[in-house]
Amino acid sequence: MRIGDTKAIVTGGASGLGAATARMLCASEAAVTILDRDTERGMALAAEIGAGFQPVDVTDEASVTQAIGEAAAQMGGITACLNCAGIATAERTLGKSGPHALDSFRRTVEINLIGSFNVLRLAAAEMATNDYESDGCRGVIVNTASIAAFDGQKGQAAYAASKGGIASMTLPLARDLASLRIRVMAIAPGVFRTPMLEGLGSEVMDTLAADVPNPPRLGDPAEFARLVCHIIENCYLNGEVIRLDGALRMT
Ligand SMILES: NC(=O)c1ccc[n+]([C@@H]2O[C@H](COP(=O)([O-])OP(=O)(O)OC[C@H]3O[C@@H](n4cnc5c(N)ncnc54)[C@H](O)[C@@H]3O)[C@@H](O)[C@H]2O)c1
Repeated sequence: MRIGDTKAIVTGGASGLGAATARMLCASEAAVTILDRDTERGMALAAEIGAGFQPVDVTDEASVTQAIGEAAAQMGGITACLNCAGIATAERTLGKSGPHALDSFRRTVEINLIGSFNVLRLAAAEMATNDYESDGCRGVIVNTASIAAFDGQKGQAAYAASKGGIASMTLPLARDLASLRIRVMAIAPGVFRTPMLEGLGSEVMDTLAADVPNPPRLGDPAEFARLVCHIIENCYLNGEVIRLDGALRMT
């Protein structure tokens, strides 16, 4: 699929990895609609880069149905669904103040895993109505996992569970949608310089960056966006999770 012909929705596109992806796609002349619950930032970025914007809560069926319908109507269809919306949480299974709150565990899985599935299943229904692209594909879905799916740290039970779900559903999703010629991929980022990570403070960021073997720094969101663009263009990539982490393995 040529980037310039792509009609993409980007969840979490108001910030961080999603914003970098929306920015790079727009710069390459793709049609883009940002879907985010942060209306203020989403609308401002959309106006800056020439994208559309739809307010959405990825966990809400009605909200996502409405946003995908509007995005498809405005762009003349959807050929790429890029799921970057997510939250980071940290809580021990049994901490000083007692057991992990069940609500926070549920909320993390609800947004990161169920929210991604909610968006992709509705986007797939829209993609199934597309004509075939020149490469024979109808569409591509890229979900955002994390290296915590494989080497989660203390306090990451909920986050790792949500991202492990993203990783492990990649192959069955690709198999489910193969006959429709819709591909499904996931990216498992290491540590990237985004507002999510910046919230941890510069000391923590420096420590995280020092652990990355090569290159010894945090990832640039544009590097994530470049991989998304490659996945869109490379029709033979399907059913796989790609680590993007400078060889970082969390201890
Ligand atoms: N930054 C990293 O180092 C890193 C590493 C691994 C994985 N990830 C994953 O990448 C994704 C993007 O992270 P980021 O660092 O860009 O974070 P970010 O906080 O900068 O951006 C996340 C975006 O998702 C949106 N969002 C959150 N919940 C939502 C909901 N219910 N409905 C709609 N939008 C919602 C937020 O408004 C925000 O714009 C997340 O899934 C995160 O877990 C990030």
